[in-house]
Amino acid sequence: MSDQTTPTTLLVLLGSLRADSSNRRLAEAAIAQLPAGIAAHVSVLPALLPHYDQDLDGDDVPEAVTTFRAEVAAADAVLVVTPEFNGSLPGVLKNAIDWASRPRAEAALAGMPVAVLGAAASPRAAQWAREDAVRVLTVAGARPLETTVGWAPRSRPSTARTSPTARSRRRWRRRCAAWSASRWRPERPVHGVDLVAEAAPHAVTVLR
Ligand SMILES: Cc1cc2nc3c(=O)[nH]c(=O)nc-3n(C[C@H](O)[C@H](O)[C@H](O)COP(=O)(O)O)c2cc1C
Repeated sequence: MSDQTTPTTLLVLLGSLRADSSNRRLAEAAIAQLPAGIAAHVSVLPALLPHYDQDLDGDDVPEAVTTFRAEVAAADAVLVVTPEFNGSLPGVLKNAIDWASRPRAEAALAGMPVAVLGAAASPRAAQWAREDAVRVLTVAGARPLETTVGWAPRSRPSTARTSPTARSRRRWRRRCAAWSASRWRPERPVHGVDLVAEAAPHAVTVLR
């Protein structure tokens, strides 16, 4: 958690592990657009976590889990960038969210502002994965923005329904502002949620 003397920390959770990932490019574009004073970090830990197992989730959790939970808890906001696998978010991302949602009373994700971006092959631009990510994050106790942004890298710009217009970007910003006003928890700094809200449209602007 940052104060006035430390940078705002944005933790990026990437749902694709492959080297030439379009979601990685989307995440990098979002990071490149961030204002000064924001420290963004793409977590490598989701790939190292064991499959969630309640038998492992006791007093002696695996080290990767402890490190990952601490990494999430230290963030001011989280940016989830997800491909779509068989109509939903990939297992690596769901698994990371499951670990960060427990123990329920002190979950690292509790109250965390989250923005969701997604890139996938179909012109729907990972819409189902993005919608599922918002639902899963909500159940996990996080505070995801309901408005998400998708990128369909294989679609021609003229046919990609997800290619944002200036009007849709303005609508996104209005919704983000309404969200932060209505759902803000005072214990989290306002600039954290402003950050995730701004990151997504900037990223898509760069890539389209
Ligand atoms: C197991 C698997 C399932 C997939 N299912 C979908 C899908 O449901 N919808 C879709 O648009 N693309 C699907 N794809 C294609 C991915 O969207 C595409 O490979 C995308 O580039 C993956 O993201 P990445 O480039 O960040 O790795 C699937 C790919 C794999 C490997």
